[in-house]
Order: sequence, then structure tokens, then C-alpha cells
Amino acid sequence: MSQRPYIVGNWKMHGTRAMLTEARAIDRGAERLLKAEVAIAPPTTLIHAARREAGLIGIGAQDCHAAEGGPHTGDISAAMIRDAGADFVIVGHSERRQDHGESNTDVRAKAAAAIAAGLTVIVCVGETGAERDAGQAEAVVGAQMEGSLPAGEGVAERITVAYEPVWAIGTGRVPSIDDIAAMHRSIRDKLVALYGEAGAGVRILYGGSVKPDNAAEILSVKDVGGALVGGASLTAESFLGIVVAAAEAAST
Ligand code: 13P
Repeated sequence: MSQRPYIVGNWKMHGTRAMLTEARAIDRGAERLLKAEVAIAPPTTLIHAARREAGLIGIGAQDCHAAEGGPHTGDISAAMIRDAGADFVIVGHSERRQDHGESNTDVRAKAAAAIAAGLTVIVCVGETGAERDAGQAEAVVGAQMEGSLPAGEGVAERITVAYEPVWAIGTGRVPSIDDIAAMHRSIRDKLVALYGEAGAGVRILYGGSVKPDNAAEILSVKDVGGALVGGASLTAESFLGIVVAAAEAAST
């Protein structure tokens, strides 16, 4: 692997201040595992405190609004997220696409706003089980990328793509290694088509039921540049198990 693997924990709607002890423990663990780049996206309410507890790892948000500010009750802008101490934001997660009806156009606007505010962005894509069964997985993901990724000079350098098959999220089911490899190759081709040479350097994460015991195999696949981890990122013990696997994969 040419770049350090990027291991990102998405805490989703889990965590009150009591969970800051996990953030601190993840940060301490990451200090010993410098071969991997580690980050967590806690709930927005914990971003500021997590930044204070954890000085080494990246801290991010799980969504942002596309506007700089204005009458959007309950929403949070990218600049606010940055001001709270975050470095990055996840946009277009399938749970947001499903729960909040976010379209590719919405996701692209959010990603562009985040980059304009000085954050890096993880843009999520992934097919449903029905789409995979219909042989449409690569076409669906390709269309999501075309619709969700912002264009422009210097954008590719600030973007990470996360491939998260919807049917693998929180289910314990994982695509075969061949299917992961084929999809990541297809995403790489699309990134090069969209961004030219810069597309070759964009990191592509795999997400969906990544655990300490399957991480090494998944992370050894070509074009898998890291993992976006849900359930297994909620304790330092299991998350650091994945970070250890990533650090080992990076050494081989
Ligand atoms: P799980 O690791 O719990 O399957 O969640 C994956 C995910 O949605 C990360 O964004």
C-alpha cells in the first residue's frame, strides 16, 4: 500500500460524554500504531470534547448542511463543524440517503461546502442487496459517484470515497474478497475518469461489517485504502484491533 491505510470509526448516533474515555483510549493506541491513519466521527455533540481528549487522531462529523448559514433550524454548517475542532466530514452515508431522502445532488453540494470550509470529505456510495442481486452494483455505484462527487481543481486531493454496500452494514455479512476487489477497481477507474491523474491518488475505503477478525484480509485487497467502521468502532478494544490489522497490512 503506497499510502497509510485510513481507518475511520463512524459512531453514528451513539455516545454521550461517557464515551470520551474510548476516544482517549483510541488516541493513545493510535500513537503506537503510526503505520495507520486513524480517525473517529462521533456525534456532533462530542466533536469539541473529543478534539480536546484526542490530539493525534482525526475527528470528524457525520453530516453537514450545504449552506454557509441561514434559516435552517437544527442544521449545522461545515464551518461550524470546523470551528468545533473537526478535520473532516462524512457525507452521503446510506443511512442519511435513506432516513433523510438525500439525493446525489444534495450529497455533492454538502461535499463542496465542506471542502470550501477547509475540511476533507468522505463521500459514501454503495448498492442495496436488490441492486447487487440484479447485477447492477457497479452501475449503481458509478452513477452515485458521478452524481455525488464535486468537480474542480484540487478537489480530488480533499476527497476519500467510502464503498459501503447497504446490505453489509450492521448485518455481519461481507462481500467476497473478489467482489470487493472488483468494486474497488471499478471505483478507481471512475475516479480516474472524473479527476484524471489525481483520481489515482484518492483513497477508497471499504465499509460494512468490518471487524478485527476480517480486517486484515479486506485491507490487503488492491485499491482498498482503509476502512469505515461502524459497530466495531464503539470500543477502543475492537477498533484498535482493526487498526492493528491495518498497520500490519501496511507493513507487508
Ligand atoms: P458497521 O461496521 O456497523 O457494519 O457499519 C458500517 C458503516 O455504516 C460505517 O459507516
